[in-house]
Amino acid sequence: MYSKNLAVLLLLILSFISSGKLCKWHSPINVLEEEYFSFCCSMGPQDKGQVAYWYKRDTNKKEQVLVRGDRRIDLNGTNLRFWPVVVNDTGIYSCCLRNGTRETPCKEWSLNVIKRNKKNCFTEEHVLTGIDGIVGRSYAFTCSDTDDSVNVVDIAWYKNCTENINKRGEEEWHIDQLTEEDGGKYTCVKTILHEGKKYNRTSTTSLNVKGAEENVIPKLIGPDHHVFKTEIGKEEILNCTVFLGYLKNFVQFQYELYWIGHGDTIETCQKNSSLCQMEERKYDENGKKYAVKQLWFKSVKEEDINSSYTCTFSENGFEKQTFILQKESNPDLPVHVFTTGMIMAIMFSFVAVMMVILCLVFKIELVLLFRDIMGKDETLEDGKLYDAFVSYLKDSTPICGEERKFALEILPKTLEDHFGYKLCICERDISPGGAVVDDIQSFIDRSRRLIIILSQNYISDQVMFELEVGLHKALVERKIKVILIEYMPKSCSDFLPKSLELLSSSQVVKWKEEKSLPLNSKFWKKLRYAMPAKPTAPAVCQGVTLQDRRKRTSTFCITSKPSLACY
Ligand SMILES: *[C@@H]1O[C@H](CO)[C@@H](O)[C@H](O)[C@H]1NC(C)=O
Ligand SMILES: *[C@@H]1O[C@H](CO)[C@@H](O)[C@H](O)[C@H]1NC(C)=O
Ligand SMILES: *[C@@H]1O[C@H](CO)[C@@H](O)[C@H](O)[C@H]1NC(C)=O
Ligand SMILES: *[C@@H]1O[C@H](CO)[C@@H](O)[C@H](O)[C@H]1NC(C)=O
Ligand SMILES: *[C@@H]1O[C@H](CO)[C@@H](O)[C@H](O)[C@H]1NC(C)=O
Ligand SMILES: *[C@@H]1O[C@H](CO)[C@@H](O)[C@H](O)[C@H]1NC(C)=O
Ligand SMILES: *[C@@H]1O[C@H](CO)[C@@H](O)[C@H](O)[C@H]1NC(C)=O
Repeated sequence: MYSKNLAVLLLLILSFISSGKLCKWHSPINVLEEEYFSFCCSMGPQDKGQVAYWYKRDTNKKEQVLVRGDRRIDLNGTNLRFWPVVVNDTGIYSCCLRNGTRETPCKEWSLNVIKRNKKNCFTEEHVLTGIDGIVGRSYAFTCSDTDDSVNVVDIAWYKNCTENINKRGEEEWHIDQLTEEDGGKYTCVKTILHEGKKYNRTSTTSLNVKGAEENVIPKLIGPDHHVFKTEIGKEEILNCTVFLGYLKNFVQFQYELYWIGHGDTIETCQKNSSLCQMEERKYDENGKKYAVKQLWFKSVKEEDINSSYTCTFSENGFEKQTFILQKESNPDLPVHVFTTGMIMAIMFSFVAVMMVILCLVFKIELVLLFRDIMGKDETLEDGKLYDAFVSYLKDSTPICGEERKFALEILPKTLEDHFGYKLCICERDISPGGAVVDDIQSFIDRSRRLIIILSQNYISDQVMFELEVGLHKALVERKIKVILIEYMPKSCSDFLPKSLELLSSSQVVKWKEEKSLPLNSKFWKKLRYAMPAKPTAPAVCQGVTLQDRRKRTSTFCITSKPSLACY
């Protein structure tokens, strides 16, 4: 009895081997549209000489249709082959083997043709889930079977849709030792040549790699001792994370996860808490399940530094992690503070440089504006009578006679009438006949500035004397400031006495004829800048001040003897 059974078994095994591949489809069969597919009807030795008949019926109908071969669907031995299979091939197929009147029970499969996802190398509904791989063990993927009758011309392998060139042409992808990174979707594409056309046959298997059995024990993640650098007053969150197990086949179990600090269980967070443990949070990542319990410091206090906080996980025992907060030992200047500081410094220095440049460029305008605003008056209490003594060429020559007009009309008109200065002009204010030398010296003494109108024809005895006295006072006694007006009509150009070059350039003002005429011209600004500060009299009062000034002028300026020099 026993030996007979054994013989049958052996025979069966032998027959399987001799008949080549077995038809081992489990219904339903999922295939991708537009690919090669072939049904096979089991052909044991007992089926020899039998003819296969294929029937198809739609999923929800009873009526069966005999499948007749055509160009696309062919009957090759007991195989039913599709070149290629299309969506409406979906249905229930049965295969019946007959030899004359003898009939064997028919076999039935359900075929499901899936629309292809054209964006991906595989189609999600078509993916087979392989058995889980265990870290460190070996694993092998095989391409879907094809019967021996077809001509396979190429085999390509993809992991997560990236081709692995090394596996090209291999029927199998073998991994010796699995690691967690080996998890993913493995796709094999076989290319079959049939009647001059190529057909694909795709199979995708997803692999989930699990840790070895001992690693599946839930445990806290990370080192047993943590040290965190922090600062007083900073908000801080400490994370205590526990690995609970793999998502697949996850079984809930009882455990506790909590924080202990200052010798007691830390309270659960409420609205008024400043140090508390938050609600436990569970999350899944890479097929693993975790739980995290956070300890929250509203703001780290001095007493929290160097205290130890313990996270405890209890399941079949206790597991602990300690956390210690330490003060940031040598706090570096934070990068953003440093950058901001640098930018600020550069900006400030830039602004400062700009200010200096502006001050230099608009020095005169700024000083005049400042004088206007402050109402500064330098003419009070120095005992002087005139703001300036005007020295110019008196003997008008036919060529350069304009300078006389300038000295007697333009200059006083502007400085006296508009800017409220009082000038001493020899020809106008000093009566002829006085002791020339004394007169001039005393007038210069009583003036705050000496205005020299310089022209080619300047050098006459009289003028030379004025000049000498003035320059002596200015350069040696430092009693009076000299203002040099370069009055140079075009015909009298290229002239400047070398002796006057000692004067600083800020005190040299160039007359540029029409250009200098308007009151707001550079010439008047520069001149006013060189003159002592004196508030400009308001227009309404100007008449009074003018009269007043004339009166005073006459008292002092009309002196005893006529001066020859003033002609
Ligand atoms: C099956 O098809 C192959 C080619 O694909 C051909 O060589 C063979 O003769 C066929 N067999 C039958 C029984 O039609
Ligand atoms: C299957 O689809 C083809 C076109 O792709 C069509 O000609 C044929 O009638 C369809 N057959 C059925 C049974 O729907
Ligand atoms: C099947 O038919 C063939 C002839 O077509 C015959 O030789 C064979 O013996 C038959 N087999 C069975 C099991 O009836
Ligand atoms: C077969 O698959 C390859 C990718 O492996 C693809 O390039 C080719 O176009 C496919 N051929 C057909 C007929 O679908
Ligand atoms: C804890 O996790 C949160 C995010 O969940 C993070 O903001 C915080 O910095 C983490 N704390 C530590 C100490 O790593
Ligand atoms: C928070 O308020 C509750 C009452 O609402 C009180 O019992 C508790 O002691 C308070 N906790 C703290 C830290 O102030
Ligand atoms: C904390 O401990 C470190 C040494 O581990 C020590 O240098 C430091 O002074 C301590 N700080 C406080 C606030 O106790």
